[in-house]
Amino acid sequence: MPTAVIVGGQFGDCGKGKIVDYYAKDADIVVRFQGGSNAGHTVVVGDETFKFHLIPSGVIQNKRVIIGNGVVVDLEVLNKEIETLKSKGKNVDLLISDRANIVLPFHKTLDGIEETFRGKSEVGTTRRGIGPTYTDKVARSGLRVIDILDDDVLNQKLDELIPIKQRILRDVFQSKETVSKGNILSYCLKYREKIKDYVGDASLEIDQAIKQKKKILFEGAQGTLLDIDHGTYPYVTSSNPVAGGACIGAGIGPKKIDTVIGVLKGYITRVGAGPLPTELKDHTGDRIREKGKEFGTTTGRPRRCGWFDGVILRYAVRVNSLDGLAITKLDVLGGLEKVKICTAYKFNGKILNEFPASLKVLERCEPVYEELDGWPDFTEEEEWKKIAKKRYVDLPKELKIYLERIEKIAGIPIYLISVGPERESTICLKKIF
Ligand code: IMP
Repeated sequence: MPTAVIVGGQFGDCGKGKIVDYYAKDADIVVRFQGGSNAGHTVVVGDETFKFHLIPSGVIQNKRVIIGNGVVVDLEVLNKEIETLKSKGKNVDLLISDRANIVLPFHKTLDGIEETFRGKSEVGTTRRGIGPTYTDKVARSGLRVIDILDDDVLNQKLDELIPIKQRILRDVFQSKETVSKGNILSYCLKYREKIKDYVGDASLEIDQAIKQKKKILFEGAQGTLLDIDHGTYPYVTSSNPVAGGACIGAGIGPKKIDTVIGVLKGYITRVGAGPLPTELKDHTGDRIREKGKEFGTTTGRPRRCGWFDGVILRYAVRVNSLDGLAITKLDVLGGLEKVKICTAYKFNGKILNEFPASLKVLERCEPVYEELDGWPDFTEEEEWKKIAKKRYVDLPKELKIYLERIEKIAGIPIYLISVGPERESTICLKKIF
């Protein structure tokens, strides 16, 4: 079965957009299955840089792209992406699941107000309304894409939803923000006109495509450690970025998935609050941030940077059933005399080999490091491109030792490595289609 899921193995921002773009050239369809406009995927093609929040990165390769039912759709952001792509002459062959839930303006307002209310224990969300929209979905009061296509259903749902939201804003949070049915209704009607031709049954189309042996790539957003069930709860997003999320968020069964790839950076980053055991609060961390341009695509926030965490890697292999790895941004570490890999944690004098559920424990874990020799710095991106053109065996010796250590810790092979943002700066060791 030619189906593959690509997920993030850390805290997001691992370069998935580029990896999906790379593998998408051999795919027929690319599907997003969770998250919303909190995600930010950057794809660099020649002189052009494309930034997506909702549309699957495969659109650049002129592929059929699908937004699955598990995604929460911000109609305004989606429409902007469609318009931008069209203005750049790109064909937008898009299907939006009729079952996907919609982010409404008051979800964004609530996201901000709830964060402010949490004070010191704020999650550090992107304030894109993600949590409040998934909350309404699970509370069975959300608005789905199909609902806005029918006047009666839309009116009835808004009549149920809006008075509750207004009371929450006014009576719970003492906010002066108002939610008016007229505004929300005209918002929905405006965007309904823009998107209605793209709406359909995504699960059905994917099932038919699988039966026709089409090659399908399922593109995860965020990462394993931000998963609502498997991440560092409550410092997580509100969806399931793990591979299992592809089944629920696209409407297919687990037997239909052939390959699962985990994307991890050669180091680790995190944006927002929550523990990061290998965080570097020194000049090495600053160097990685500057060199790796580690500032959020969606919010511009500086990312916290640290050494590669092998405990997280093993955990990601397990909870996603990873078959192979894509290791990105290895050029960023170039020029460091020594590099470190965390192989276990130390807690209360004991060695922990598995990622703990308790944040209290995780916050007090000390990384156990292995130190390896660094590899040379190639200041010019061109040089890294030249290196990428060579075979894996021609990589600097120290880099190969680093990668082989990662493979050993993971117990699975590396399928692809990336040494720069461009498509050419990629060495593919195993094709998936
Ligand atoms: P939310 O998804 O906006 O609710 O944010 C919840 C947490 O997930 C925060 O720590 C965010 O910084 C983080 N987050 C959400 N989306 C991304 C992403 O695409 N990359 C990295 N972190 C993210």
